[in-house]
Amino acid sequence: MADSGKLVISCSTLGYAIAGATVSAAIAAERWVGRGDEQAAEEAAAAAMREALNAVDFTGHVVVGEVDIPILNVGESVGTGNGPELDIALEALEGTTLTAKAMPNALAVIAAAPKGGLLQVPDLYMEKLAIGPGYERGVVDLDASAGENAIRLAKAKGVDVREITACVLDRPRHEKIIADLRKVGVRINLIPDGDVAGAINTAMPETAIDMYVGQGKAPEGVLAAAALRCAGGQMQARFVFRNDAEKYQAQRMGLKDAGRRYELDDLVSGEVIFAATGVTKGTLLDGAVRGRAGVETYTMLMSSSDGVVRKIRSVTPVGR
Ligand code: FBP
Repeated sequence: MADSGKLVISCSTLGYAIAGATVSAAIAAERWVGRGDEQAAEEAAAAAMREALNAVDFTGHVVVGEVDIPILNVGESVGTGNGPELDIALEALEGTTLTAKAMPNALAVIAAAPKGGLLQVPDLYMEKLAIGPGYERGVVDLDASAGENAIRLAKAKGVDVREITACVLDRPRHEKIIADLRKVGVRINLIPDGDVAGAINTAMPETAIDMYVGQGKAPEGVLAAAALRCAGGQMQARFVFRNDAEKYQAQRMGLKDAGRRYELDDLVSGEVIFAATGVTKGTLLDGAVRGRAGVETYTMLMSSSDGVVRKIRSVTPVGR
């Protein structure tokens, strides 16, 4: 366990209990789907996630947490305090706007690792590049253009570059990346929000996404890296500082060489587990649905120790 640096929680009771906290968050967020209130949705999800985590026998430290609400912030302890010591990264609601507007791909997400396994990052932007498993390390390169990476990936996959699909957040800042990908003929899946799912999709055969590229938030980057570490994908990232204050913010968090390129192993190291539950139906998971018998949810639970992607359908009785 914590003393030996071993995280034997992959398919153990503890792993499923932690996944139960993403289920609780998703159920709480479901009440706010389509109601136009991002803050209420986020607070409901975070309060439910905290309550569920606090019932689990472990000693958790939030190292990547909520920013806009005073629940589950960095530095908060979770769990009963009995059991293994774990660092926690979470987004009780990844996709607050998606939830408020009843759009696809909102998730409740947690990653857990022994102390020091998850990079503590500020809430700043990072350039990110992610691909799925089965490729030689370094086949794509954050310092190459998006088009060049698509060509390299196509060659490694043994297909024409026109057969490659890239996922990109639909933002004006990605104009150049999009133009670059279009120039070489790549199919682009433009998403309005939710780049944790965007990056994880590269590792899920059913989604047909080959590559995720673009700038998104750093906490989401750590969560995506945790999932890709479990599923065997690759990821590279680098902070984007818009001013000196942001650079200082990163330095204050102890990131000495914050301008460097982070490899997946720098973002997440050692053993890790990753759990996500769908809030709204998406490419990765179906959403939470409230029925007479209870709330039906779909959860993904993965561990870096075995690489197995577990999909769990739960029906939680209403009122619990
Ligand atoms: P929410 O704040 O609505 O949850 O959005 C999450 C997200 O889309 C992340 O997935 C992504 O990393 C980030 O926002 C992108 O930030 P911005 O919306 O500022 O481009």
